[in-house]
Amino acid sequence: MGGGAEEQPRLVPDVRVRRLRLDSEDDKTLCEGFDCGQEEWEHQVSDFIIRKIWLPGRDPEHTLVAIEAEAGALLGFGAWKHQTVELPQRPEPVAVVRVCYFGVALEFKGAVDADGHKWASRLYSTLEDDARAHESSTPDMPFELFCDRRNERGLRFWTSEARAFEVIGPGALELLRLVRVPPT
Ligand SMILES: CC(C)(COP(=O)(O)OP(=O)(O)OC[C@H]1O[C@@H](n2cnc3c(N)ncnc32)[C@H](O)[C@@H]1OP(=O)(O)O)[C@@H](O)C(=O)NCCC(=O)NCCS
Repeated sequence: MGGGAEEQPRLVPDVRVRRLRLDSEDDKTLCEGFDCGQEEWEHQVSDFIIRKIWLPGRDPEHTLVAIEAEAGALLGFGAWKHQTVELPQRPEPVAVVRVCYFGVALEFKGAVDADGHKWASRLYSTLEDDARAHESSTPDMPFELFCDRRNERGLRFWTSEARAFEVIGPGALELLRLVRVPPT
């Protein structure tokens, strides 16, 4: 194909994933300046971790931050919460894990660990483990998220074999609704 040189993914050997501390000024500082891109949908993700999550009086999402060990920079984050929603072919509303916001900073997009695994993928796995381990979660609980239809990279990320979300319909405006029901 092509003949141009393939760009090597950035190697980031060590990343720590932990819960965001909303009572920590250090964590607020960590999130300042997070930038996962200038597209509208990217801006919304950055705005969440810079500003929205810190607003008083909110019922906060469960938020995990991935911190690159060398410089202590915020590589990415993911936020989830339980939500009761209607799903096609389900007579009653069901509880789901909604992945509310998920993003990797521009400079770390595509970054891999020493074994070549994408950090975005590892961060999502950790988020999913965190959600599953919650006392209010059940093993068959679907995961749900909304993704802008113009967000090709995001859609590819969610629908890849590793995560296997499926588009089940439109959401508001430009959004698509994606769901993954764990195999029983
Ligand atoms: C979505 C996101 C978390 C994925 O993290 P990442 O580190 O970029 O992940 P990857 O590099 O594995 O990219 C995801 C897929 O898009 C592909 N991709 C890379 N650049 C692309 C581009 N410009 N256009 C479309 N697809 C692209 C990758 O090859 C990969 O596909 P593959 O799994 O088939 O190899 C990250 O890009 C991001 O934070 N985007 C902005 C915020 C966002 O969109 N969040 C999700 C909202 S629903």
